[in-house]
Amino acid sequence: MNFADSEIVNAILIERGMYPVRDAELADIVLVNTCSIRENAETKVWNRLKEFRKLKTQNKLLTVGVLGCMAERIKDQIIEEEQLVDIVVGPDSYRDIPRLIEEVEDGRKAVNVLLSLEETYADIAPVRTTGNGVSAFVSIMRGCDNMCSFCVVPFTRGRERSRPLGSILNEICQLSDQGYKEITLLGQNVNSYKDGNHTFSTLMDKSSLLYPEIRFRFSSPHPKDFPDELLYLIAERPNLCNYIHIPVQAGSDSMLERMRRPYTRDQYLQLIEKMKKIISNLSLSTDIIAGFCGETEEEHQQTLSLMREVEYDLAYMFAYSERERTLAYRKFEDDISEVIKKRRLSEIISQQMSIQHRRNQNEIGQRHLVLVEGTSKRSAQQMSGRTDNNKIAVFDRKDFEKGDYVEVEITGATSATLIAKPISKTGLVDYYSAVLEA
Ligand code: 5AD
Ligand code: SF4
Repeated sequence: MNFADSEIVNAILIERGMYPVRDAELADIVLVNTCSIRENAETKVWNRLKEFRKLKTQNKLLTVGVLGCMAERIKDQIIEEEQLVDIVVGPDSYRDIPRLIEEVEDGRKAVNVLLSLEETYADIAPVRTTGNGVSAFVSIMRGCDNMCSFCVVPFTRGRERSRPLGSILNEICQLSDQGYKEITLLGQNVNSYKDGNHTFSTLMDKSSLLYPEIRFRFSSPHPKDFPDELLYLIAERPNLCNYIHIPVQAGSDSMLERMRRPYTRDQYLQLIEKMKKIISNLSLSTDIIAGFCGETEEEHQQTLSLMREVEYDLAYMFAYSERERTLAYRKFEDDISEVIKKRRLSEIISQQMSIQHRRNQNEIGQRHLVLVEGTSKRSAQQMSGRTDNNKIAVFDRKDFEKGDYVEVEITGATSATLIAKPISKTGLVDYYSAVLEA
């Protein structure tokens, strides 16, 4: 989400005659896009800001700004106490950045952290300077109304609102013209997307029909409202990837209730079963929080057992980090010690690593269509890309290029990566037509 936001800010600044540089030492303005989701994310930002303070002492004219979720939370602290920052801009005020920059030039500090009920930046074409030129994020909605008790997002990003369908399809059209091959549609809860009668399924239907050579992914749906029609659409359309990220957070009813997640363990497991039945070769991933308020050993064991039952291909696993303003902060006690949180988290991670290893080993001998994203980080002689079911595959470079679709056969696997033998370059439609015929 923050990558997508930075691309919007890029567009706003470029429109006003500013331009990006690679090195902060060459910049007149440094804007740090921030995340508040966990303490750790905020600590990283503070450390970055301290680095920029050194630059500020070398270059008295340097302007430093903080954008995004941390803005509202720390606006007073950041400007008055720390003297680190000149500009503070919340996630709905990016259009105001050029004005705020001018204000700073007059020697003042500048702040705009107003949240909006309407802003979706629908008319702004993001300028993508940091991506790989093959896969892009497209933001389809902003904010969140779910109010999970642990989560600060509804407070930092405001109310949920959807971007008009036409503006999203227009952006996808431009990305297609620019040669992008993979698009991830982004929202805090994509199944709440709504533009008149258009739902998220309408958007997936239209995008996949209009751009058959582009792969579509999305992040994230909420388990409370995953429609069957979307599952059937994913099963039927070759360019809707057979990979779903479906955050569960915890494996027991009691914990889900305290977290204000409106589903039970059974309902979640039934949804997963239905997904696996409808979509063949489906890969699943999730988010898990360890050590939330009042978590008992028994509740922790239920999280572990749910993860064994589902067998996720990937999981994002976190220790609970208390956030001000949330319901949990106001009503519950953050009473699980750091030692226990860490121990539970490491049990969750090590179990997940062995599940992933086993699942990836099962891929050996299978054929996949890989979209090449670039050369592998480990070796310039190897290319790296993703399979339809979102696994990273590496294989010999030969004369393949970034953006090629390559049919591969999997020959080896670790818990994180598939090793593959390339068979031939192909197209998405050609590949799946051949698979259907066979
Ligand atoms: N502590 C730890 N993890 C959190 N997440 C959200 N809020 C917190 C928190 N306070 C995790 C959830 C969510 C993901 C994006 O971040 O698992 O799905
Ligand atoms: Fe946070 Fe819950 Fe909204 Fe996700 S759905 S952003 S976890 S409040």
